[in-house]
Amino acid sequence: MKRQPIITVVGSINMDMVTLTKKVPVQGETIIGDRFETIPGGKGANQAVAAARLGGNVQFIGRVGDDSFGEQLRQVLKKEAISVTNVEPVTHCSTGVATILVSENDNRIIVIPGANEHLTPKYVEEHKEQLLSSDLVLLQFEIPLETVCYCLDLCEQEGIPVILNPAPARQLDKKYWRKALYITPNETEEKELRLDKDEEMAERLIVTMGENGAKFTENGGPQMIPSFKVEPTDTTGAGDTFNGALAVAISEKMPLSKAVEFANAAAALSVQRFGAQGGMPTREELEQFIVKSR
Ligand code: RIB
Repeated sequence: MKRQPIITVVGSINMDMVTLTKKVPVQGETIIGDRFETIPGGKGANQAVAAARLGGNVQFIGRVGDDSFGEQLRQVLKKEAISVTNVEPVTHCSTGVATILVSENDNRIIVIPGANEHLTPKYVEEHKEQLLSSDLVLLQFEIPLETVCYCLDLCEQEGIPVILNPAPARQLDKKYWRKALYITPNETEEKELRLDKDEEMAERLIVTMGENGAKFTENGGPQMIPSFKVEPTDTTGAGDTFNGALAVAISEKMPLSKAVEFANAAAALSVQRFGAQGGMPTREELEQFIVKSR
């Protein structure tokens, strides 16, 4: 039997504190909201869950705190069949949390990294064997940037392709961008990062545009894959679902335009349910959705 490619996510794990409200208060104002929920999140964890639900063979390198959130979130990943042997608790440290306001089909997020700050290059080096067993590595920017750079260096040396999701947008030393196979900002992040626009960089960029789909360049030509039209309930984690799905598609060697369509479809399904991980589809749901939408 053909071996399923291994996807390793080196990334953040957060507990999301989500408040749903019709309007967002202005400075100094108090309002009554609609609902509050505590649910699993973190860009790294979300992307790992998205990939695992779509049949990816996923392993995670990350940190949680030595509090109840930490163990709860480890168990969530485990239940999704993600390997968490290298998700170790940091003593006397709290798990990462995100305060999320969901309003008018959009969200505002503040992340307190907590234990995610302890995902250092040294920690990854100690768990290097798992990283080196990967067929593809998925990175985001909610962990120390030195760690992102360390992983990019190591993966380049070992010829392991990396998908780099630069979210939230932070600047990297220029040379590192070119160590990723694909860089996947949304439009806001793309503007903020002001990446070089030479031919070589253009072929690495896949820009997500929410309800407008995603754009990239292939063989020198610009390409646009439209999104699937749906009624959104909660867009939190849509970008993460896109990245997790893209990782599965690329690891299975789908042609790029098919891979982006696959990732767009996963993101469209994810926004129809509440919570970052709540609406992430299984492979079967996704394939049926693509066929029905044709
Ligand atoms: O991308 C959505 C995620 O960003 C949330 O789950 C939150 O934890 C923040 O990391």
